[in-house]
Amino acid sequence: PDADLMFIGEGPGQEEDLQQRPFIGRSGRLLRTTLIKLGISPEEIFITNIVKCRPPNNRIPLPNEISMCKKLLLDKQIKIVCPLLICTLGSVALNAILDEKKSISQIRGSLQQKDTMLILPTYHPAYILRNPQAYQLFVQDLTQAITYIQTNKINTETF
Ligand code: URA
Repeated sequence: PDADLMFIGEGPGQEEDLQQRPFIGRSGRLLRTTLIKLGISPEEIFITNIVKCRPPNNRIPLPNEISMCKKLLLDKQIKIVCPLLICTLGSVALNAILDEKKSISQIRGSLQQKDTMLILPTYHPAYILRNPQAYQLFVQDLTQAITYIQTNKINTETF
């Protein structure tokens, strides 16, 4: 809960639903393995989802489900963790956090600001599993996120 970097995905898949933990399936393994390769331990980060229950047949969460989960749970998680940076994974998380529709391929890797939140959008790891040619961009975005938190942590510690 005192993590500087917070990852937000879409919603639990089948394995996550069974084990009641976010990102423990294939997508989660890809995210964690990549973070470890970049020198970040999964214990150092906070991972959650926009919606906390798996929508029937894995469909995309509906707008009312997104706004309800956000208001009742996600907004509170963000307030408690108070991360330096939020990395949104995929377009559902990006649009829910920004509260507007933006193209992930156009704004991935560029810092966005919404209220007091600083957001770095990147692809969802499930997209990377389907499109491995995009993996280098994903690595580039995660590297940028890690560099950002490390730089800003040092700045805070100097005071
Ligand atoms: N995809 C998500 O968006 N979240 C998970 O927890 C797992 C897969």
